[in-house]
Amino acid sequence: MKIKYLGHSCFTIETQGYTLLFDPFISGNPLSSEIDAALVQADFILVSHAHEDHTADLVSIAKRTGAVVIAIWEIHAWLQKQGISNTHPMNIGGKRTFDFGKVTMTYAMHSSSFADGTYGGVAAGFLLAIEGKIIYYSGDTALTQEMKLLGERSTIDWAILPIGGNFTMDAVDAAEAASFLRTKNVIGMHFNTFGYIVIDEIEAKTAFDNSGASLTLMNIGEEIAI
Ligand code: NI
Ligand code: MN
Repeated sequence: MKIKYLGHSCFTIETQGYTLLFDPFISGNPLSSEIDAALVQADFILVSHAHEDHTADLVSIAKRTGAVVIAIWEIHAWLQKQGISNTHPMNIGGKRTFDFGKVTMTYAMHSSSFADGTYGGVAAGFLLAIEGKIIYYSGDTALTQEMKLLGERSTIDWAILPIGGNFTMDAVDAAEAASFLRTKNVIGMHFNTFGYIVIDEIEAKTAFDNSGASLTLMNIGEEIAI
């Protein structure tokens, strides 16, 4: 399968003929100017929480593509009011098998509201079992003890974690999270997009030196096969 970085916390995963899109935020991201949100394809859109830097392009891409939007109940309910009916509601701890693989909605420690003030439920992440691999997309979150439970119960091949600090974990906490998760491969997200979360990339990688994991920082538009 292939993972492509569209900037901030937005990724696509291509697997078995399906495209999964995570936290669509492209047109409002100055760093993603080379990506055209109007051309992004999706069969499934997974939304971690309601904040604008995760949902700004959600309604337009969901409408255009007809993708199934997988999100917590309150985001599903809000989407229905925006005329998006192809949604699949979940909640924390829930598991569901879709055509591309299995999704568990995981705990995240963060807030969640839409730009219009609507409550977005609690923030979440996703544990994905796809093509025999386990991928953890944490969403925006602090470092939490709950990550130990994920690491104990699953062999996580790749973890996609925030490293920008201020609103979420920084790289030091993400390195600790990698230990909790018992994973060797971390892809960083949620950094450099705005002033509050600008990081030193070399320092971020150094923070992983004793974690047993390596930190991959993808360029926007870059694709890797995993
Ligand atoms: Ni957020
Ligand atoms: Mn965010």
